Order: sequence, then C-alpha cells, then structure tokens
Amino acid sequence: MSMASVVGALLVTGCSGGDSSSVTPQYVLTYADNQSEDYPTVQGAERFAELVSDATDGRIQILVHAGAELGDEDSAVEQVQLGGIDFARASLSILTDYSGEAYMLLMPYEYEDDDHMWTVLNGDAGQEVMNSFDGTGLVPLSWYDAGARSFYANREIHTPSDMSGLTIRVQPSDLMTDMIELLGASPSPLAYSEVYSALQTGAVDGAENNWNSFESMGHNEVARYFIEDEHMRAPELQLISQVTWDRLSESDREILRSCARESAEYERELFNEREAASREECISGGTQVITLTDEEKSLFRDAVAPLYEKYCSEYSDMMTKIQNASGQQD
Ligand code: GCU
Repeated sequence: MSMASVVGALLVTGCSGGDSSSVTPQYVLTYADNQSEDYPTVQGAERFAELVSDATDGRIQILVHAGAELGDEDSAVEQVQLGGIDFARASLSILTDYSGEAYMLLMPYEYEDDDHMWTVLNGDAGQEVMNSFDGTGLVPLSWYDAGARSFYANREIHTPSDMSGLTIRVQPSDLMTDMIELLGASPSPLAYSEVYSALQTGAVDGAENNWNSFESMGHNEVARYFIEDEHMRAPELQLISQVTWDRLSESDREILRSCARESAEYERELFNEREAASREECISGGTQVITLTDEEKSLFRDAVAPLYEKYCSEYSDMMTKIQNASGQQD
C-alpha cells in the first residue's frame, strides 16, 4: 500500500517554509536515503522537500528518512517499486537489475572528471538511461553527484598485484564483483551499513567509495590507507514510485521534476564542498593517502578493460558519444 495517502488531520511543519505552515497536506510522501542526516544527498532531499512544499503551498509534504531507517538501499528500492515507499535516492550501481543501459554510465575509468560525467548525465546518454526505467515501477527524477570512488584498505596498494589475496567489499552489483575479480582480489558484496564492522573485524581487507562516505561512515577509523585511484564515478538517482506517480496530476509531476533538478544542483555543490572537507578531516585524523603514478594507474585501467566488452558491447555508439563528450560544456 502506498504512503501517498490523502491525510486529513496532519499539519505541515518544519521544512515546508513560507505560509504553507497551516495548510493541510493532500499527500504525505516518504523518501528513503541510506546516508546520514548531514550528508549532501540527504541535504539535497531536504531541499527537494522544501521546494515541493513551497511550490504546492504545502499540498505535497515529503518526509525524508535518512540513515537507511526504511531499510538498506536494495530493499528501499524494492519498496519504492512496490509503492510502499514513495521516493528513494540510490546509487546507480545497484539499479542495473532494473536497467541494463545503466552500465553505460558506470564503467570504470569512463569519465575524465566530474564535468565530463555531468555533461553525459545531462545529455542523451543520461536521458536514455532514465527512459530505460520505463515499465520497471521506478521513475527517475534527477541525477545526484557521488564523486569518484577509490579503494581503501589496511594494506598499501599501488598495483593490482598488491590486491592479490585481499577481500574487498563491493556494492551488491555484478559489475563491481567482476571488477574486483579482474583485479585479482575476492569480492564480498555487502550492504553499505555492514562495511564498518566488516573492516573492523577483518572480514574484509578493504572497500571502495568516495571521500564523503569514507569519512561519514567512519571507515577512516578502520581502514588506514586511501588509494586515490578514482577508478569509477557511480552517479546517484532520485526515484519516485510509479504507483505514486500515477496518482499525481501532470502539473504536480512537473513540479516534482523541476524541484528534483533544482535540488540536484544544490546537492552537487554540497557534495564538492564536503569532499574537500572529508579528505582534509581524514588526513588530519591519520589516513595515509596513496597517489598512483600514471604507470600504476594504467595497470588498473588495463586490468578492468574487459568489462567494456562484457557489459557495454550492445551500446557501442552511445559509448563513443560518452567518450567524445569529454571537454564539452553541459
Ligand atoms: C555511496 C552511495 C550509497 C551507496 C554506497 C555503497 O556512498 O552514496 O548510496 O550505498 O556508496 O557503497 O554502498
């Protein structure tokens, strides 16, 4: 049953702002995120909720649940598909079961930098991937930034051969699993919430993520080396349930789309600021940063190159466009 129910008695409070504070909402909708309250994606979600409340004079209220309060990422997305949760923000890595096209945006070493990724997300490839969710029960609203993912471990890593024998946590994703195997290590798929204790107990030797997550989840306390290899950028998607979407008028849908896009710009800004702050905080707390030489980087790049053939051979035209989008304005 959807949370998109008509509620009579509730008053809009908190983030709704403006003069909508005494309006009775028509919809009270739930939003799931597995990051903590102060994390950029959750701050972006709060901004989204505020913008939507303002634009609908308090008719649509969105309650953001942070910290995987409504379940781990996989489960939250399943609940969105069924209509039990209205919105979720999820990493694209875990959405490939719903869209094979998503692989096009997830390949290791695909983007030169953040601007390249955003040009692609805001262009044809980003749109094609969003459209590919048609019929899945998930409706994408906007992209969010998640920076670059790098390895971290309790062992120095400079080349793929240093990974031999290590167990590395991966997101529950066949692409991530294959990537770790190609690098000669053993992948261990675990939910995000389980990574800290897996590192602490030694169940895994390392993991990979962006600086923000490394710091925010306290992984810096249990993994000493951060290998700044930036092997992948996995963008995030804000999703709404098709069940909820079907209940909304076209003009409310347009409000959600445009508020989601506006919140994404805010999230991107916050993400970049937090990335620099997280890096600094971890380093002053004792994290050892390992920077790879160009030669070392190319060993990683070459090792994972077969993934392109395996996951993206049917999208070769779009992959060429993605590659050519480097250096273009978005
Ligand atoms: C990032 C992303 C999360 C995801 C996590 C992971 O932190 O924002 O949504 O769950 O990576 O590695 O699982």
